[in-house]
Amino acid sequence: MTHHPQRLLVTGGAGFIGANFVHHWLSAHEGGRVVVLDALTYAGNRANLDPVRAHPALRFVHGDIRDTALVGDLLREETIDTLVHFAAESHVDRSIHGPDAFIDTNVNGTHSLLKAARQVWLAERRGPAHRFHHVSTDEVYGSLGSADPAFTETTPYAPNSPYAASKAASDHLVRAYHHTYGLAVTTSNCSNNYGPYHFPEKLIPLAIVNLLDGKPVPIYGDGRNIRDWLYVEDHCRGITRVLTHGWIGETYNIGGNNEWANLDIVRHLCRLVDEAFAADVTLAARFPQAPAARGIPSETLIRFVTDRPGHDRRYAIDANRIVCELGFAPAERFETGIARTLAWYLAHEDWWRGVMDGSYRQWVARHYAPAGT
Ligand code: NAD
Ligand code: TYD
Repeated sequence: MTHHPQRLLVTGGAGFIGANFVHHWLSAHEGGRVVVLDALTYAGNRANLDPVRAHPALRFVHGDIRDTALVGDLLREETIDTLVHFAAESHVDRSIHGPDAFIDTNVNGTHSLLKAARQVWLAERRGPAHRFHHVSTDEVYGSLGSADPAFTETTPYAPNSPYAASKAASDHLVRAYHHTYGLAVTTSNCSNNYGPYHFPEKLIPLAIVNLLDGKPVPIYGDGRNIRDWLYVEDHCRGITRVLTHGWIGETYNIGGNNEWANLDIVRHLCRLVDEAFAADVTLAARFPQAPAARGIPSETLIRFVTDRPGHDRRYAIDANRIVCELGFAPAERFETGIARTLAWYLAHEDWWRGVMDGSYRQWVARHYAPAGT
């Protein structure tokens, strides 16, 4: 079933993946409209949209997805035909220490969007060719053992963290609004993303900035937990494919076929940082606290710390469905994607120093004091 999105409402478009999606969409599509609705929480930054700030198709609205009346007004006044829903609280560790915000935003916020979409597109009949795309995660499927087959779209849900449970609940609400009211929905469940504009509380950007600042890189537990990593632009390409060619009411897993143990990925980053400093003498002057500035291996900053409670052991995605049915394949190899990501953080020091304000640092210090090596 082909859909031709013309006028998009992108929730959470000032966050990591949402902003990359807006860049991707505007670079690939002429005309049309992209309205970003974002509450600018600690994870949302106007700076993430700087590269497209002057684009004539873009409008930024500072607002909350739980404001159903605002969402309804935007759907009407902008004659939106496609809603792409990224907005969420997205960090597992924060969900462990404060689950309420995850229920408020991920469950009630998603429900608010669904109510507005139902009202405007179905009750007021303003959306004959509408689409509601919900961006979700592989974490709803729970944890795999080392020999288990990867998650498919029919793997039973078994969320383990408050974050995963809140995303699972939102997935179910999206499904229910299709089956009960006939809203034209699609959902994608993606593995871990990495790339530019990734907030430095998640593993890869946190490791990069700590290696540059000479700060310990915390590895939870034994470091053998496995994640599948996908370059963020590939996720955006996958979502675009689902928007234009996905079947209404269906879900699609998106993944990179790229499983890494946490310790291995951090060691890989350490080697890349060491190589970057060896190749560019100006880096030592810019980042004098980095061990690499003094020829000391970056790996000396790795610290094993107390494990995350309920830490899922392994995620792996079987992406056969989107590959076979929608012709999607990741374009970026991990080796080049991770090198591009490090290069981006080296070139955008102002960005990551700007987004890491004092309150985030204090939160980390309170909750993640290293428990010894
Ligand atoms: P993020 O935390 O970087 O960004 C979330 C954005 O949502 C921020 O801009 C924030 O300001 C905004 N937001 C939060 N609450 C809001 C509210 N009430 N109203 C309006 N805006 C609000 O998250 P991300 O990593 O970009 O993830 C985006 C989506 O993709 C999420 O739904 C997440 O569950 C999903 N996802 C993420 C990953 C990943 O690896 N990061 C993987 C799979 C799926
Ligand atoms: P994260 O980037 O938070 O993503 P998610 O929990 O959604 O997969 O974490 C990725 C993996 O890295 C996860 O197994 C937890 C681990 N991790 C660490 O070992 N140290 C850290 O400082 C962080 C943030 C994560």
